[in-house]
Amino acid sequence: MPKLIFAAADPRPDRWTELFKRELGSAFDVAAWTDDGRVHGADYAVVWRPPAILFEREQGLKAIFNLGAGVDGLIGQPGLPAGVPVIRLEDAGMSAQMAEFVIHQVVEHTRGMGVYRQQQRDGLWRAQRPVEREAWPIGILGLGSIGTRVARCLADLDYPVAGWVRTPREQAGIEVFAGPEGLAPFLARTRIVVNTLPLTAETQDIMNGTLFAALLPGAVVINVGRGDHLVDEDLVRAITAGRVAAATLDVFRHEPLPPDHPFWKMPEITLTPHVAARTLREETVRQIVAKVRALEAGEAVSGVVDLDRGY
Ligand code: NAP
Ligand code: GLV
Repeated sequence: MPKLIFAAADPRPDRWTELFKRELGSAFDVAAWTDDGRVHGADYAVVWRPPAILFEREQGLKAIFNLGAGVDGLIGQPGLPAGVPVIRLEDAGMSAQMAEFVIHQVVEHTRGMGVYRQQQRDGLWRAQRPVEREAWPIGILGLGSIGTRVARCLADLDYPVAGWVRTPREQAGIEVFAGPEGLAPFLARTRIVVNTLPLTAETQDIMNGTLFAALLPGAVVINVGRGDHLVDEDLVRAITAGRVAAATLDVFRHEPLPPDHPFWKMPEITLTPHVAARTLREETVRQIVAKVRALEAGEAVSGVVDLDRGY
């Protein structure tokens, strides 16, 4: 009987294993992995930042499912078995969450919501000028499962939207810039930059002083990718110098963000604790189970990570 193990630091792994059992049915064995020296003899592992010992023990894996969209916590890991496909989550309910998170932050700035909060405190009834969308060109770094949904939703609200990707292509309603040579013209037309890139050797530290200096004046930085995309000191400097007006940060180099980090005290920065798009249990289990069934039937599946490319 094929076996699936669940290995993620979740206080209630039973909520996952029960759901996997329900969706896979009695023809599959499902168990929560624990570091107790036992070899489960698993065919499939569902993991989030697993300990290397898991791969030492489970030598018969046919596929490894990453319990998130970003695989940066998995693919650099020593012991990851060569030749076993790593499959990431593709959307699984995350793109809608990310789109609403980013729209919320965009509207905060374009509609001047902070001004209205202050006016309420001051007892003032005063309308600001209507938003001029042309004054707020938005640039999305990465147009994958998540970035595309974010870009489309913002384009539907009539903001000028561009995206930056590796592979050149046409995308309706979105101006697409590609490759290293496409980055400068992309930044030169961007006032709100939203990072939805995966963390790879090529994208690490990409949000740095040079990038901030290339944005339009009054820039807003939104990072929902990974903390290691952002050079923290460069953002602090860019805000202090007035080159960047505000930032929303959901991901950090060290999570939880250390209590003495300067970001906590900067009024220009909005912080959230890596919640822009949560892994949703039902959607996630359904997606993984469909792929497990396809693999068992000898079919190809999407979402297989290119380990050389890093995403
Ligand atoms: P994805 O589908 O793999 O898309 C990645 C996008 O980035 C693609 O458009 C890709 O370009 C582009 N890209 C990658 N490397 C590039 C490079 N060197 N230059 C230019 N473009 C590059 O990934 P996804 O599912 O959208 O997820 C993206 C990331 O979001 C995840 O890796 C994770 O870090 C983050 N995330 C955060 C949260 C949160 O709660 N904060 C939740 C979920 C995910 P091509 O299209 O040309 O390949
Ligand atoms: C969350 O950050 C994910 O990568 O799914």
